Amino acid sequence: MKLVERISVAPRKVVRSASDLAVNGAPPMFDEPLHVGRPNIGDHQRFLNRAAEILDRGWLSNNGPVAQEFEQRIAGFLGVKHCVAMCNGTIALEIATRALDLKGEVIVPSYTFVATAHALQWQEITPIFADIDPATHNLDPAAVWRMITPRTTGIIGVHLWGRASPVKELEAIAKEHRLRLMFDASHGFGCSLNGKLLGGFGECEVFSFHATKFFNTFEGGAVVTNNDALAEKMQLMRNFGFSGYDNVIYPGTNGKMTEIAAAMGLTNLENLEDFVSITRRNYRRYRDAITSIPGLSMLEYEESERNNYQYIVVEVAPYFPVSRDRMIEVLHAENILARRYFWPGCHSMEPYRSFYPHAGLVLPKTIAIAERVVVLPTGSAVTTTDIDGVCSVVRALASGPR
Ligand SMILES: Cc1ncc(COP(=O)(O)O)c(C=O)c1O
Repeated sequence: MKLVERISVAPRKVVRSASDLAVNGAPPMFDEPLHVGRPNIGDHQRFLNRAAEILDRGWLSNNGPVAQEFEQRIAGFLGVKHCVAMCNGTIALEIATRALDLKGEVIVPSYTFVATAHALQWQEITPIFADIDPATHNLDPAAVWRMITPRTTGIIGVHLWGRASPVKELEAIAKEHRLRLMFDASHGFGCSLNGKLLGGFGECEVFSFHATKFFNTFEGGAVVTNNDALAEKMQLMRNFGFSGYDNVIYPGTNGKMTEIAAAMGLTNLENLEDFVSITRRNYRRYRDAITSIPGLSMLEYEESERNNYQYIVVEVAPYFPVSRDRMIEVLHAENILARRYFWPGCHSMEPYRSFYPHAGLVLPKTIAIAERVVVLPTGSAVTTTDIDGVCSVVRALASGPR
């Protein structure tokens, strides 16, 4: 079986002090860039066999047999009644919010990928940004509660980094205020809350299967739900509203998943545990190194839950000798393409920045976290030797300004 591998693996040097850093004239740690989001790719031959079958069959899209099998396998895996596969996570969010009849204002975190907000704005629904809990990076229920107005129709919790939103608390708020509750589970494929895989919470949950996600279908997404009527509505919506050959009964869009994307999904699903064992190993290697460095902390995954360990999220404290942005510059010089994530928060991006110039006043935790977070490379293309190289650079920064 062939899973994705890096061709050139070995770090080129050991960093013992600042003079060994590339920013100070030394050669970089890696010959090739070490990316945060290299895709996890399952067994190549199995995928190619599926691709050959699709070509022989000549059925490339429009709810083909591979897409149907994919939906069944995903629903079975997640333990939900329906999986409605889509062309990407953003369209899946748009269709889910429309199918739930959200309008007016919907409460979302600002600390998320901008698609969570854009999917609402695209339909002229106003995203209202609520602050996060700095310990979890997920919505703070008390902040959500404070943002409710008579125009609020729903809440979208995001399971950021694959760590579950405060589902119980959000359910209580939604119930009390008669709001609809759904989740953007784009990061959460294969992750659980109280032993139950994400996918079955709220009225529906949305996944992104983009190439950079833990589980990918090249591009793709899905809405999963236990609600029969909602699933049926979304099946119509993703296919122009067609109910049968000539019968359009709904204003729909084109959200269909292609056969080749579904083939990638089926293949990657078979290798999911292989991916987890690599990302778990990488996470532990990073955690052992990073948590011993004063001024750095790592967002930890609850080991009693299932996790995909897809993101290595490090927070740089204000007293660390170099700033978060300088750390990223130093890492990039080493060919380690660490990234800020969700910076500077959706509320500081257009059109939200112009619409709500003072939104930041109620988002102090979001702003602080967005300034501190750096995400380090992992995934099935990253080895423990690579990680030791990355950590030696970070450790060198801990001993003084560069
Ligand atoms: C939290 C979140 N929501 C939505 C999306 C959008 O998904 P897609 O890129 O598949 O459209 C992404 C990722 O891209 C994401 O990280």
